[in-house]
Order: sequence, then C-alpha cells, then structure tokens
Amino acid sequence: MSQRTIALVTGANKGIGYEIAAGLGALGWSVGVGARDDQRRTDAVEKLRATGVDAFGVPLDVTDDASATAAARLIEERAGRLDVLVNNAGITGGMPQEPSRVDPATIRAVVETNVIGVIRVTNAMLPLLRRSASPRIVNTSSSVGSLTRQSGVAGEQTTGPVAVAYAPSKTFLNAVTVQYARELSGTNILINVGCPGFVATDLNGFRGVRTPGQGAAIAVKLATLPDDGPTGKFFEDAGEVPW
Ligand SMILES: NC(=O)c1ccc[n+]([C@@H]2O[C@H](COP(=O)([O-])OP(=O)(O)OC[C@H]3O[C@@H](n4cnc5c(N)ncnc54)[C@H](OP(=O)(O)O)[C@@H]3O)[C@@H](O)[C@H]2O)c1
Repeated sequence: MSQRTIALVTGANKGIGYEIAAGLGALGWSVGVGARDDQRRTDAVEKLRATGVDAFGVPLDVTDDASATAAARLIEERAGRLDVLVNNAGITGGMPQEPSRVDPATIRAVVETNVIGVIRVTNAMLPLLRRSASPRIVNTSSSVGSLTRQSGVAGEQTTGPVAVAYAPSKTFLNAVTVQYARELSGTNILINVGCPGFVATDLNGFRGVRTPGQGAAIAVKLATLPDDGPTGKFFEDAGEVPW
C-alpha cells in the first residue's frame, strides 16, 4: 500500500475540481483526476504533473454505475485504499429554471448528477475509504442549497436565482450528507459539505466573482480535517452555513 495520502476528485478536469486536485497535490498527496472525457482528463493530468503534482487519471462518469465500479477498481489496484473522496462534479441543467416552466427531464438530469452521482461514487469508494486511517468525504454543495438562504429568512440574504433543479439538488445533497454522517457516526469517516462561493467557471458562464483557486479552498480544508473534526456539517470559508 502507498504511504502517500490518496485522494480522488470527481469532475477534476476543469474549474473548481481542477483546483481542488492542485491544492491536494500541493500537499504531496497522490490525486486521482476523475473525469469522463478522455482528452480533457489526460490534459488535466499532464497539466497537474507539470506543476509537480502526483496526479493520475481516473475515467469516471458519475451517472454511470459501471464507470464508478471501474474507478474503484483502478484505485484499489493502484493504491489499495482511498483516504479522501471529493465529490465535486456537478451541473446546473441550464438556466432559466422557473418552477412553473421546467422540463421534468431537467430535474432528473440534475439530480442524477448532483445527488445520485454522489451516492453512486461514494458507495463505490466506501470499501476503499474504510481501509484508510483518516478517511474524509467532501461533497461540493452550494449556499443556494441552503433553505435559509434561498428563502432569505433569519436575516440571511437571499442567495442565487430562482432555479428549481439546481438549488434543490444541492439541498438534497446536503440532506444526503447528513444521512451518511448519521450512518457513519462511530466510524473514523468524516463527511461534510462545502460551498466554494460564487466562482468564475463554465458552470455560470464565468460570471462568478471568485477564482477557482479561492473556490477550492473550502474543499481542501474539509479534506484535511483532524480526526476530531466535524462531520455532517455545511461550511464555506467564513464558517458554518445554515441549512
Ligand atoms: N461555480 C460556482 O460559482 C459554484 C458555486 C457553488 C457550487 N459549485 C459547485 O462546484 C462544483 C464544480 O463546479 P464548477 O463551477 O467548477 O463547474 P465546471 O467548471 O462546469 O466543472 C464541472 C465539472 O463537473 C464535471 N462533470 C459534470 N457532469 C459529470 C459527470 N456526469 N461525470 C463526471 N464529471 C462530470 C465536468 O466535466 P466535463 O468537463 O466533462 O463537463 C467538470 O469537470 C459543482 O458541484 C458546482 O455545483 C459551483
């Protein structure tokens, strides 16, 4: 088994995921670049390796059971275990998304990637994570998934546009994370959700105000929590986010 910490980041070929991989790699970790497109994955791995990161490619479409199973097999063969899983891959489903006009297919597609994809990949990786001394799971959510912030109650500013597929998919992901934390309580696995803030990436036509590197910081922090760190919580750089 490798002495290096082994991480897998999904959707790591660009945007925030790429910067999470770079950030974990800068710690001296071995980082699996999970990406569904062969060329984009190869390019990202080469770019990371050129900066000194011990990166390796992991073919992974989070909507595909066989792909998740094969990804787990690849990591098992390479490292024998997994220490950190960052579920970052996500889609918006396209905007606008008014509830009164949405195509149900959009909801299904977004939930399939942003929620079921996380469950699929997490469950494929859990046997490998259970072999780690300090396993961490980081789910990339958004403060637009906070019901408090969506509704602007309790003095919180209303966050994000009306988006009936994307925002609730992150609310769903937050709840799923809490369920995992409950099931995994009593184990050494810590699982949390992080919000990167409003980051300039393909996801929003580069309208975000933060850099992908800034957006990656919270995932790196949650990936490196101490053994007595929190689990089942929702964080951004400024601290805990209200559900
Ligand atoms: N940008 C923001 O302001 C913001 C704010 C809050 C939360 N987030 C969250 O941050 C995460 C990363 O978003 P981003 O802004 O970095 O967006 P991005 O640049 O569009 O990157 C999304 C990544 O997810 C991958 N992906 C999408 N569907 C996939 C699938 N089925 N299987 C595997 N990979 C898949 C994409 O791969 P391809 O290149 O193959 O499409 C890409 O690598 C998402 O979960 C997003 O919801 C972003």
